[in-house]
Amino acid sequence: MASPTRIGILTSGGDCPGLNAVIRAVVRTCSQIGWEVLGFNDGYEGLLDPVRYEVLTRRRTSGIMQLGGTILGTTNRGRFAAKVGHGDKARIPAEVLQEAKRTCDQLEIKALICCGGDGSLSTALQLQEAGVNCVGVPKTIDNDISATATSFGFDSAVNCVADAIDRLQTTARSHKRVMVVETMGRYAGWIALYGGLAGGADVILIPEIPFHYEYVVNAINQRMAAGYRSTMVVVAEGARAVGEGFVTQADAAKPGEKRLGGVSHHLTEYLASKLEYECRNIILAHLQRGGEPTALDRILGTRFGVGAVQLVQQGKFGHMVSYQDYKIDSVPIAEAVGQIKTVPPDGQVVMAAKAMGIHFGDIQP
Ligand code: F6P
Repeated sequence: MASPTRIGILTSGGDCPGLNAVIRAVVRTCSQIGWEVLGFNDGYEGLLDPVRYEVLTRRRTSGIMQLGGTILGTTNRGRFAAKVGHGDKARIPAEVLQEAKRTCDQLEIKALICCGGDGSLSTALQLQEAGVNCVGVPKTIDNDISATATSFGFDSAVNCVADAIDRLQTTARSHKRVMVVETMGRYAGWIALYGGLAGGADVILIPEIPFHYEYVVNAINQRMAAGYRSTMVVVAEGARAVGEGFVTQADAAKPGEKRLGGVSHHLTEYLASKLEYECRNIILAHLQRGGEPTALDRILGTRFGVGAVQLVQQGKFGHMVSYQDYKIDSVPIAEAVGQIKTVPPDGQVVMAAKAMGIHFGDIQP
């Protein structure tokens, strides 16, 4: 009897609520058509010596949809780092790509489903060029992947931010304080914008709209003078003041590398020096990435998983699933990577927020 068609799946880059929904959907769809699924551990690293994978059955993936993270494990960067920073492309060494291809050939893998963000999808593209059939699944809490209206993980992150703001509102009002909440979002402010809107923020600062410190001070003073007992400022980790660079921190685990983070701390110190109200900052960091996915992210992850298997069936390698006009579609990975999707400063959502008096720090209030 001929052995069943076998495909591989891996999750790469930062983890994201909804990844397990993708894995489960891939396994269930494959089991319906008699295909076998191998799940590689720790992202692309699992393809290299020592090769690490497990056979994923329906039973193994039962009950995982509601779990955060990824049952396969993941690696951010590692030996496959195709991207070293925004717009900064690096070729993966040919010997690394060839070793990964050898693993896929030896295991007789028809195609590899690669779930990842911009950098991990760039890796999929290079593997595809090296002769491994790859299909991409866009994954990002930041909602910054081009060629898809949204991705799973974003809604869960936004819900986390909204919940945090709800909690901070009550304590801020009690103490008459200014709260500065820092969200993830390196080059795109989607989480800060949507989380801020959902939580009822008064000031939202995003990378796409450089802010002026003194305008933020004035906006807060105006609001407090009008009798409000608190002000909620939401700032994306990649937000910058006009004429200033990103706020970064050294990464102890990766000497020489810097991580974004800490802009809320700087801003809060400045505000505290100018305002007569107490100011506090909180960095939500990985709380936004952990925990269970929302129903929306479970459904989107599930639909992406089914769509990815269908792309393999259709032989549409080098493509990734995408979400457009409420439908699952596909686009060449090459068209999606290397250009992130940022918040349009004059787009509907920002304009709606401005129409309600939410301040972005860009104009004198
Ligand atoms: O790309 C997703 C993201 O969550 C960014 O918003 C954030 O800057 C980064 O990952 C943090 O990654 P790490 O967990 O590797 O520090």
